[in-house]
Amino acid sequence: MIIASNFKTNHTRASTRAYMEELDRFVRESGSRQRVMVFPPATALERFETAPQIVTGVQNAYPVEKGSFTGEIGLEQIDEFGLRTILVGHSERRHIFGETQQMCAQKYTFFQTHGFEIVYCIGEPEAVRQKGIEAVVDYNFAQLEGIDLDYGKLIVAYEPVWAIGTGLTASAEQIDETLTRLRRKIKAPLLYGGSVKPANTEEILKIENCDGVLVGTASWDVGQFCEMIAIADRLS
Ligand code: 13P
Repeated sequence: MIIASNFKTNHTRASTRAYMEELDRFVRESGSRQRVMVFPPATALERFETAPQIVTGVQNAYPVEKGSFTGEIGLEQIDEFGLRTILVGHSERRHIFGETQQMCAQKYTFFQTHGFEIVYCIGEPEAVRQKGIEAVVDYNFAQLEGIDLDYGKLIVAYEPVWAIGTGLTASAEQIDETLTRLRRKIKAPLLYGGSVKPANTEEILKIENCDGVLVGTASWDVGQFCEMIAIADRLS
C-alpha cells in the first residue's frame, strides 16, 4: 500500500531532517513493506538517505525548467535534489490559490513528459457532496479533464474538500462508493485523503478499491505516521 504524508506548510528544515531520520529508522527496523511517501515544504528538501521504500516528493512546482515565476520552483530546482515525485491538483492549490483545471493539466503534462511519478489529487466540495453521488462523480471526473489516465506513473488521491483538515472523515460507505465509481475510469492506484489518522486508518485501508492514504495533519507527528504505516503492515 501507499502511505503518504503531505507536510503542507509545516516543519522546518531542521525538524524535517529529524522526522526523516526517525521515519527511516522505523521503516528499516520494522521491515515495512509499504511504499512510504513524504512531501516536505520546498525549503526543507534534501537528498535524504533513506530506505528505498521511502520516497520524497515536492508538493508543487511550476511547469517550467526555470524562468521568471516569482515564488515558484521549477524543474531545475527539483533536479538539484534528484526528486522525481510530485503532487498535482491538491485542493488547497485549486481553491486557495485558484489553480484552474487547465493549469493542473498543464502541470500534469509537463511533469509526465519529464517522467515524474504524479500523485494527482481530486475531490468535491461539501455543496457537491450534498447533491449526491452522481454530482460527486461528475465533479471528480471533470477534474480528470486533460489528464492522461494511462500514464504508468500516476497515482490518484481522492480527497473530498470537506474532509480535509476538518476532522470530518468521509464515512467508509462514502469512500467505498466513490472509489468504486472512480475505479471504472481509473486503473492507477487510488488513495483516500481527508482527516486520516491512526484511529481510522484500518477501516479506510480495508476498503476494496483503496490502495493507500494521503495524510496531512495526523502525519506531521512522526509517531502517528509510523503508527499508520504499522497498521498497513498488519493488514497486508
Ligand atoms: P488532513 O489529513 O489534514 O485532512 O489533510 C489531508 C490532505 O489534504 C492531504 O493532502
